[in-house]
Amino acid sequence: MSKAGALGLASRVGGSIEKNAVLYAVEEYEKYHDYYGGGEEEERKAECTNMANIYYDLATGFYEFGWGESFHFAHRWKGESLRESMKRYEHFLALQLGLKPGQKVLDVGCGIGGPLREISRFSSASVTGLNNNEYQIARGMELNCIAGVDKTCNFVKADFMKMPFPDNTFDAVYAIEATCHAPDAHGCYKEIYRVLEPGQCFAAYEWCMTDVFDPNNREHKKVKEEIQIGDGLSDIRSTGEVIEALKQAGFEVMWEKNIAVDSPVPWYLPLDKSHFSLSSFHTTAIGRFFTGNMVKCLEFMGLAPKGSGRVQKLLERAADGLVEGGKKGIFTPMYFFLVRKPHSDNQ
Ligand SMILES: C[S@@+](CC[C@H](N)C(=O)[O-])C[C@H]1O[C@@H](n2cnc3c(N)ncnc32)[C@H](O)[C@@H]1O
Repeated sequence: MSKAGALGLASRVGGSIEKNAVLYAVEEYEKYHDYYGGGEEEERKAECTNMANIYYDLATGFYEFGWGESFHFAHRWKGESLRESMKRYEHFLALQLGLKPGQKVLDVGCGIGGPLREISRFSSASVTGLNNNEYQIARGMELNCIAGVDKTCNFVKADFMKMPFPDNTFDAVYAIEATCHAPDAHGCYKEIYRVLEPGQCFAAYEWCMTDVFDPNNREHKKVKEEIQIGDGLSDIRSTGEVIEALKQAGFEVMWEKNIAVDSPVPWYLPLDKSHFSLSSFHTTAIGRFFTGNMVKCLEFMGLAPKGSGRVQKLLERAADGLVEGGKKGIFTPMYFFLVRKPHSDNQ
């Protein structure tokens, strides 16, 4: 786990955006969302890839500071620390995919590679991380060298809607909380299908609205919008839409489940202001208060770029939206599925 201190955070806010352009980038980002009076849903979808890229330039420093090297939630047992649960959650994917030493595996939307390094060490498979964000890839390469997995794992910068790999390249593919950024789920799953060897599997944790979500309920809609703006999303699909898109892409569904319902410790607990934990201090109410003031000071002293505080506020809102969505049971970040590309391709 990397230790990104206050100065590390200050230097990383904005990712590959010029430091003096961070405030402008936050403003541009906010304009993408209806919530701030900017564009329609169709416009947001068209700009989806660009929006997600700006979002991750802005947010990655904060994610690493508060969350570590892996940017995802996890199913968690009582007595298990957040870090332990996140690793187990990654191992679970490797086990479901039956990864074996030497296999070629693709991590779609790999962040800075926390899961990729863990899954590679756990399974001895070679993992390629696909990511559209240049800054995250540069950071991931540094961390791969530090972890000593740079000979077996690599990164490729590309859009998961147009992957630069030949057909049937990988023995397994997984995605953790990433393909929710696809403007069109079918298009993204179809690309995954194309690069996967016939007879092999794709597993993912997908962000979804559950069956409890009522699109005519104003409170539900507001929570969904908060999650979208706070997390770089143009929309959030329902579990039904996800399964339909997988089938349309040609996959056989082995099993699927919203595993949030089985988690003895709610996935959103680390973000819940009413909860305190020393082991995930940065994400608690006091931790967030501390980070907010620290960022204000760093920005005031010119150590963090202008706009840093605004990014932090955006992420606070995201956290509140996620907690609300989790408590109401209308949203899950862990709709799990294991699907297989059939041997004979009838598509
Ligand atoms: C919430 S992060 C999850 C990262 C990683 N899976 C993890 O668990 O640490 C979502 C990731 O999807 C990537 N992403 C978003 N849109 C993408 C696109 N069009 N093509 C490739 N990667 C994309 C982002 O850059 C980011 O790395």
